[in-house]
Amino acid sequence: MMKKSTVVYPGFFDPFTLGHQDIVVRATEVFEEVVVAVAKDSPKVSLFSFPERFEMAVEIFKDRKNVKVDSFDGLLINYMKKNGDKVLLRGLRTVSDFEYEFQMAQANKTLDASVETFFMMTDSRYSYLSSTLIREIARLDGDIGQMVPKIVSQRMKNKKI
Ligand code: COA
Repeated sequence: MMKKSTVVYPGFFDPFTLGHQDIVVRATEVFEEVVVAVAKDSPKVSLFSFPERFEMAVEIFKDRKNVKVDSFDGLLINYMKKNGDKVLLRGLRTVSDFEYEFQMAQANKTLDASVETFFMMTDSRYSYLSSTLIREIARLDGDIGQMVPKIVSQRMKNKKI
């Protein structure tokens, strides 16, 4: 398959799920480099602080040479412009993701017409997952081992939620 340079995969990752991880790993088969861009300021109430979310992402991909973990604040499009990146990646789980993703892709396109958004279907094993669901299950002492990378379940155990 022909590979095309760098793709940016942005998100809050509060926390990072196996669904997110699966998208990143599959994207490395298509793109030379995948940049996981961890957003600093979450508009939602966050469980993990930015340094925690960042550190966990670094840990998850530490053995993958073609995955770089970076961070950004402010507009995503400005971050991309600064680095000369032109391709964005988002995962689509169900049809309900479409509306939000469509809006975001259109807004980003309006802000910078040279940036393209690519979508990958989330693996069906993970299409039901969301960070909110995981936070809820963990808070109620449920087992999230099948839903998140090991580092995340360890960190969640240590958190009093
Ligand atoms: N598997 C499992 N779950 C997934 C998933 C996948 N493949 N992809 C997304 N999710 C879930 C997450 O768990 C999360 O669940 P939650 O809503 O219950 O918390 C949700 O989908 C989305 O989270 P995530 O992918 O971490 O981040 P996001 O979609 O909230 O990120 C930004 C949005 C950061 C990319 C966007 O807000 C942004 O660009 N912000 C910067 C400011 C800006 O430029 N704004 C203008 C944008 S037009």
